Amino acid sequence: MEDPISLIDRIIEDHKQIMKETRALEHDLDAILELEKAAGDFEPASLDPARQSLQRLRDSLDRIDRDLDAHFKREENALLRVLEDHGGRTLASALHSLLVEHQELRDRIAKSKQDASELTLGGIPREVWEGKARGVSVYINHTRKLLEAHARSEHELLQTARKDIRARMQN
Ligand SMILES: [Fe+2]
Ligand SMILES: [Fe+2]
Repeated sequence: MEDPISLIDRIIEDHKQIMKETRALEHDLDAILELEKAAGDFEPASLDPARQSLQRLRDSLDRIDRDLDAHFKREENALLRVLEDHGGRTLASALHSLLVEHQELRDRIAKSKQDASELTLGGIPREVWEGKARGVSVYINHTRKLLEAHARSEHELLQTARKDIRARMQN
């Protein structure tokens, strides 16, 4: 089994990485909403940048999906085991409650990917496309806030666990 402290540190690093990735999402979304404004003036020329921005959004979502999946599995398996073995019942059960949130976050990322793909389909009237794009943006930004809140709660728990386990190892 991985050293408990290294595992905790690794999970804290994951959080930093994932937050960086979700902040990049905000830029992708801004770029798409900016294009929407410009579309009235330069319709034929705006198609290519629009496609590129949507592709970037899809790539970012794919990356987050992949990294989040690996991270969630690490928390659901190795971390839960470490807290059960070394962290005491209270910490393990607090983690367990947080892990329940993973499913909703997974579902929201899957839905965002699907929505972003739908935006790349042609043949949608512009007003409809704009409405959808705004909806997707709001949805993704809210998902980001949920993710951040989730990571913040875990972070507090991880700090406590780190201190407790370290103290126990030194005794
Ligand atoms: Fe988590
Ligand atoms: Fe996490």
